[in-house]
Amino acid sequence: MVSAEAKEQMRAVAAQYPTLRSAVLPALYIAQDEEGYITEAALEAVAEALRLNVDEVKSVATFYTMFFKEQPGKRVIKVCTSISCYLRGCDQLVEHLENRLGVKRGETTADGRYTLLTAECLASCGTAPVLQVNNEFVEQVTPESADALIDALNQELDNESAGTAQGQEKAATPATPEKSRTEAAGTKRR
Ligand code: FES
Repeated sequence: MVSAEAKEQMRAVAAQYPTLRSAVLPALYIAQDEEGYITEAALEAVAEALRLNVDEVKSVATFYTMFFKEQPGKRVIKVCTSISCYLRGCDQLVEHLENRLGVKRGETTADGRYTLLTAECLASCGTAPVLQVNNEFVEQVTPESADALIDALNQELDNESAGTAQGQEKAATPATPEKSRTEAAGTKRR
């Protein structure tokens, strides 16, 4: 269920656009942040906030690959496979991550921790190959630094699980600072 606060955020974002319809993408992001993926409730909330019908919203949500149709892993890893990253070895990087995580691209690990995706140009061609972990960019990735990144993410997820088990309030930000994560991976963050 999409909260009243999220619906209010959608209306606030929509007020910045000349027409309500123009705010479909940011409204869908708000809904996805809250629900984890684009649920029926998310579609209905966006439609209500923007005074559109649900089918109109659904046609946008299903067109764009950044909106998930089912629950993704806790960390979504997107590896850029466009030309600059291709020339700098993204294929080997994807294969390495597939082996490390035990999934093929497009799949989520059985433990629900990771979804591995490929993506079109992530707009950081000069630091190829590039990947994204949720909203964080990681640049100049090698198989070795990818291993260090997964080690750091595993630690981060272990910490989150331990916190949840102790009944602690789930932190809004990762338990391990992003800087530490990228430093551990030996890469640069944009
Ligand atoms: S080609 Fe990978 S970031 Fe542009």
